[in-house]
Amino acid sequence: MNTIIGNDSAIAAQLLTAGNIVAIPTETVYGLAANALLPMAVAQIFVVKNRPQFNPIIIHCASWKLAQKYMINVPEIVHQLAAAFSPGPITFLVNKATIIPDIVTAGSTKVAVRIPNNSLLLQLLHQIDFPLAAPSANPSGYVSPTSAQHVFENLQGKIPYILNGGKCTVGLESTIVGTDENNKIILYRHGGITKLQIENVVGYRIEDATIAIKEKPATPGQLLVHYATKVPLYVGDIEQLIQLNIGKKIGIISFTKKYQHKNIVSLYVLSASGLLQEAATNLFAAMRSLDEKDVDIILAESFPNEGIGLAINDRLKRASNAI
Ligand code: TXA
Ligand code: MG
Repeated sequence: MNTIIGNDSAIAAQLLTAGNIVAIPTETVYGLAANALLPMAVAQIFVVKNRPQFNPIIIHCASWKLAQKYMINVPEIVHQLAAAFSPGPITFLVNKATIIPDIVTAGSTKVAVRIPNNSLLLQLLHQIDFPLAAPSANPSGYVSPTSAQHVFENLQGKIPYILNGGKCTVGLESTIVGTDENNKIILYRHGGITKLQIENVVGYRIEDATIAIKEKPATPGQLLVHYATKVPLYVGDIEQLIQLNIGKKIGIISFTKKYQHKNIVSLYVLSASGLLQEAATNLFAAMRSLDEKDVDIILAESFPNEGIGLAINDRLKRASNAI
């Protein structure tokens, strides 16, 4: 199959309506999309990504209002959070309406719903009358794509069209939240909207279910090994890690500092001016580039545990758990 990269949302809409899968831009990472109401179309996503069938998929809608027909019994607090942060990098786990096929939710009664904030994707969503089921457009387990080129490198020949909406502005996957039996908000995945931002809206400290990583997680995004590079990746104090790895060809992911050592083959500074948001935007591209370089190991700095730094550290930790 010939894979075309273009920026024509009408072509994407046409392909999706006909039951094909198409890569789409979002502000977080690129997604691999299908008509969420068409099980046969959604099934192709699992094949192309080599994704386990038990892993459910987020649906993307043009607005929170238009998304209402896909959910039932939504707690007021979820509506409040959606009003505060959607469209944006946050996903809500809510009770699903029967119209959502089981393949999308992997049999769960909950569906994950997100209103993305990318103008080209919103244009596309307004051109179709169904939601888009879309996981990140990487092969299962690999680093998520943050540009159309990343998607092309991974899925060339397997999908007909990549809708090019430019480089992702957030660069990390969305925050995922749900509610407990008392309608209290629970955090399932760190992402573009920070824990603190959510707490400022709800008015209490929210439970962080991302820490309790289990064998069979409530949200499979909590799988310990995820987002992993092929080259082993270690997180911590760079100077110390260099000393522990003498004799190896080293790739570095640093926040602001240009480390120097004869064994460093390649170094990525994610934000010279120390901006965590900028670092988040550049993280996955750096991981992917280092994976293609002649390095034996990747050493990544621990980022400040504040704001989106929590999500950066979460992704690095998961990548490092692959070894
Ligand atoms: O930013 C994002 O969320 C990106 C863009 C494309 O929207 N999507 C994304 O999808 O990261 P994915 O599939 O790579 O990660 C979504 C996570 C998965 O871990 C999945 O298990 C979980 O959300 N999830 C989706 N639907 C769920 C459901 N019904 N119940 C529990 N977990 C769910
Ligand atoms: Mg993913």
